[in-house]
Amino acid sequence: MPVMQTKHPNALINEMFNAEHFRETGHALIDMLSQHLADNTDAKRLVVNWQEPVAEDSHWQAPIPTSATLDSATLLQTLEKQILANSLAIHHPRNMGHQVATPLPIAALCDLVASLTNQAMTIYEVGPSATMLERQVVRWLCNLIDDTNTASGGVLTSGGAMANLTALLAARQIAASQIDSKINNKEKWNAWKTGLNGQARLCILASEHAHYSIARAAGIMGLGSDAVIKVATDSEGRMDTAALKLAHQHCQESDLHIIAVVASAGCTPTGSIDSLQAIGEFCQAHHLWFHVDGAHGASALLSEQHRKKLKGIELADSVIWDGHKLLYMPATVSAVLFKNAAHADAAFAQEASYLFQEEDEAQEERTKTTKPEAFNISYRTLECTKRMMALKLWVAFSLYGTHGLGALVDEAFSKAQLFAEKIKQHPSFELRLHPQTNIVCFRHQAPNLRASELNQHQTNIRKKLVESGAFHLTQVELHGNIWLRTTLMNPFTTETDLDALLSAISN
Ligand SMILES: Cc1ncc(COP(=O)(O)O)c(C=O)c1O
Repeated sequence: MPVMQTKHPNALINEMFNAEHFRETGHALIDMLSQHLADNTDAKRLVVNWQEPVAEDSHWQAPIPTSATLDSATLLQTLEKQILANSLAIHHPRNMGHQVATPLPIAALCDLVASLTNQAMTIYEVGPSATMLERQVVRWLCNLIDDTNTASGGVLTSGGAMANLTALLAARQIAASQIDSKINNKEKWNAWKTGLNGQARLCILASEHAHYSIARAAGIMGLGSDAVIKVATDSEGRMDTAALKLAHQHCQESDLHIIAVVASAGCTPTGSIDSLQAIGEFCQAHHLWFHVDGAHGASALLSEQHRKKLKGIELADSVIWDGHKLLYMPATVSAVLFKNAAHADAAFAQEASYLFQEEDEAQEERTKTTKPEAFNISYRTLECTKRMMALKLWVAFSLYGTHGLGALVDEAFSKAQLFAEKIKQHPSFELRLHPQTNIVCFRHQAPNLRASELNQHQTNIRKKLVESGAFHLTQVELHGNIWLRTTLMNPFTTETDLDALLSAISN
């Protein structure tokens, strides 16, 4: 390691914030990243330079530097050789594992703007344009769900898990406000203020395939993760609506108050989309909060061809939608959207007077957009300081329109159809179900193996492919069987890559 000269603190501080230095390093960095992007799309390279984490960890035990160990030139080399070279190559054609976007390069540049300008966003004055961008983008997403609803609204969050938590906190607060308090029998229950102690029992109904963040939200809210009652799915991976009715009946008989019915669009294991219309109508008939976890599939709203799969989403009281999945954004940016914007304020029914000056004002008053307080985003989010997340979405919609972003969804979904057809035609493979979105689950059939050995066989296949660096794919357990799982959301993946995956497994 080169020995660097220790600089005078004042010289060092000047250097840290030097605009010319930023320009030079920035140009060199963008050149390097552009080359990285171009190289990554070459299928002949490795998707990942796999290293066992325990071995890798031994290379990262250096003591904290008390003075410089790198200069700008060596920094870029280190970034290239140690960080980029040991990253999962997200744009690589054979990266088809997790539900992680192949990010639009322009969106990565927007994140640079967000970082340098560092708009805290807690209240309007610490992020005026960032606040307006977020309000604009939220309005666009709400309009895609239902362009006839002028009362909708929401907030951007750092990820779908936080968006689910936010929606369920609002659902809990609204549900509790309809139940008599057991602490003061003259009042309705304020769950945020008085907590759960001694009050009515609450639960959530969700598909057995619901993302784990739903159970985690129940845990965080103090309901206990067991408060999520799992509703069985049908053979297509969708919530079985007959099972939903039975679960509802069970809750009524057991004096359990349902705070929300959670539908998945699409669910994490198979990408299946629950019957939103039927579930939404059921919720309306029984006065239940209808939440749609559209982290993965809400982007189908951008596609002329596929938006009908989400029919009924407009009935939802809350919807979550991940930008860093099928909106092709770098992580993280998600939205939690409410049919009634005022419900966004129910999630965190708390005041912080040093931030919010009109603390004694009623919540409904505050949400009126004529009130300056309505522009303070942190009323509606767990995050106090938060990143300017909307810029990248605003730029992507402004440069490419719903038409362009919808084309990405069409491309991903049609590749999944193509791959599913190939699997179906292939004598050595079994397709779990016909994909409704862009997730394809399948398994390799080895005639010499007993049924009990087939699960281990899939795990071995995946391990070998991932550790060789040839492909990146995932696996999922469904009703005791392990399936290989690909998420096709990488525009660089071609038919040749899909064929190559099947041959790599079957040969
Ligand atoms: C259906 C669904 N909901 C929620 C999440 C959590 O989203 P995030 O990873 O953005 O927190 C995921 C993640 O894959 C998901 O698939």
